Amino acid sequence: MTQREVDFPALAERLRPQCEAIVARYEERRSALLPIVHLFQEHEGYASRDAMRFTADLLGLSPAVVESTVSFYTLFFRKPVGKYVLQVCRGLSCTINGAENIMAYFREKLGIGHLQTTEDGLFSYEEVECLASCDRATCMQVNLEFIYDLTPQAIDDMIAAMRAGTFSVAPMVQSDPPGKTWSVKQDGEVSRGGKAAGALGVSSPNNPGGVGDSSGVIMLDRFVLRDDAPAMRARSNERLVQDAKLVAEVIEE
Ligand code: FES
Repeated sequence: MTQREVDFPALAERLRPQCEAIVARYEERRSALLPIVHLFQEHEGYASRDAMRFTADLLGLSPAVVESTVSFYTLFFRKPVGKYVLQVCRGLSCTINGAENIMAYFREKLGIGHLQTTEDGLFSYEEVECLASCDRATCMQVNLEFIYDLTPQAIDDMIAAMRAGTFSVAPMVQSDPPGKTWSVKQDGEVSRGGKAAGALGVSSPNNPGGVGDSSGVIMLDRFVLRDDAPAMRARSNERLVQDAKLVAEVIEE
């Protein structure tokens, strides 16, 4: 393991009053988990293991709870990343609007793929699931700020501005040098030797993207179409009937 460049104990002591102020906003200490990890990410450039351990101690949680919560969100980076984290949406609306071409353009222009960082440590690239801005597809986030209506020309301008240090979004802090990839083990791989049963067949955030979001189709197939999920199907059908009745009543009125 490489030596970290940041003096974490000093950083933690400096941020402790802010952390306590965040905790005081909530009825339960554990509710402060995400904002505190985010605070450390702002100062370190990623959610370090030290930060997650500190958060666990402060909130009286196990490190596993903190890590599994943080691992759910693409808003957190669990390894050092580049100064600009480029997260391109590969969800359905963006795919329909040409996300595959946009992703191919980024990969070619930067010379890196999904979950990789350029040699100079300037760019990290990731293809993510729906960013909930489908009306502005194709879209992405740069250091968690939204950028919409992507075109090859817009990407050229964006990358040039980042290289020149004039881009509208500030670069991330880089407290530790990034490696070539920032993919991480899936939860369950370490402790159980594989994904949890409920996650089997659902796409992994570590998988290369470029094919649209298949997980929605998989879940639909699992819940609605398959014979081995009668309880789920019955519930769906029941709701459909209820919804239809409601609509009919409104029309009659
Ligand atoms: S599919 Fe891209 S924002 Fe929803």
